[in-house]
Amino acid sequence: MRHLITGGEGFIGTNYIRYILKMYPEDEIICVDKLTYAGNYDNLKEFENDGRFTFEQVDICDRKAVYSLFETYSIDCVVNFAAESHVDRSIENPEIFLKTNIIGTEVLLDAVNKYAIKRFHQISTDEVYGDLPLDRPDLKFEEDWGIKTSSPYSASKASADLLCLAYFRTYGTPVTISRCSNNYGPYQFPEKLIPLMIEKAQRNESLPVYGDGKNIRDWLYVEDHCSAIDKIVRLGKIGEIYNIGGNNEKSNIEIVKIILEALKKPESLITFVKDRPGHDRRYAINSGKIQNELGWKPQTDFESGIQQTIEWYKNNPQWIERILNGEYKKIRGVKS
Ligand SMILES: NC(=O)c1ccc[n+]([C@@H]2O[C@H](COP(=O)([O-])OP(=O)(O)OC[C@H]3O[C@@H](n4cnc5c(N)ncnc54)[C@H](O)[C@@H]3O)[C@@H](O)[C@H]2O)c1
Repeated sequence: MRHLITGGEGFIGTNYIRYILKMYPEDEIICVDKLTYAGNYDNLKEFENDGRFTFEQVDICDRKAVYSLFETYSIDCVVNFAAESHVDRSIENPEIFLKTNIIGTEVLLDAVNKYAIKRFHQISTDEVYGDLPLDRPDLKFEEDWGIKTSSPYSASKASADLLCLAYFRTYGTPVTISRCSNNYGPYQFPEKLIPLMIEKAQRNESLPVYGDGKNIRDWLYVEDHCSAIDKIVRLGKIGEIYNIGGNNEKSNIEIVKIILEALKKPESLITFVKDRPGHDRRYAINSGKIQNELGWKPQTDFESGIQQTIEWYKNNPQWIERILNGEYKKIRGVKS
């Protein structure tokens, strides 16, 4: 199978490409990435000379360049990870979120139609459902719930989902969508909660926690997200949405304390800061559909996943260092 993976140099895309190359020795990857601040060519550099891996530096909003990829390579499936993904940045500057997350998806969908690609999988998020109250632990997002977004980020992701469903209905485009909870693991850009806190704690810097820290997220180890996407791409039903979650709800403050304990650092490093505007209180996801219909279930429990993650960041200080000093942007030898 030849996969065109967009956003492959970001956190989840990188882990997904590694997963496919490991699990399917015959498969090939065309990794397409604009290399924004969040895209890191270091992530997959070791595959530069692997015949199964090709990198193309392309913006998914650039229709001509995207069509040219489909003219050049014979593609079996497209998985769209490319996105602006940081909620705080979407609050400061929504426009680029609308461009990449909506127009970029539209360009890809048009290409899928034009070149009769057999599968387009859209990586969405549980944030499209809005949030849940803290005092109703019985409530969890279901696939047939309506869209109720809180941030420009989630609104742009929800718009892309609606476009995918409209293309399926109008043109018969072979789409599937997955909506996943918060991921953690290696290669996550250190602006997101877990790598940010690991990094700051290691440097004995103060750890900024929004509001009262009681906001709850459902955390899933990134490789479990990858195995779920793989199941959907190969076995999922066209036109369907699949929720993916770890059934592992933790408040932000709990996460920060777990990290401090693992690194043997004092809780006095925690500093509560002004809350994010519109901050969602709780996400919880019912992933019964993918478990029952496609036989997926997460393999990594949070206790071992978070230890592996902390170890990875401790053992790869040069990865973080090259981000912090900007060296990671000076890419060489890029095939394009
Ligand atoms: N991280 C999570 O916890 C999480 C949870 C659920 C869903 N998601 C979704 O998963 C996807 C990947 O998330 P992530 O955390 O890996 O994000 P990320 O920010 O780490 O990576 C995004 C990648 O997309 C690339 N990109 C951005 N704009 C582009 C464009 N116009 N053209 C081509 N490439 C472009 C970036 O260079 C980067 O490599 C996103 O769609 C996100 O909405 C993430």
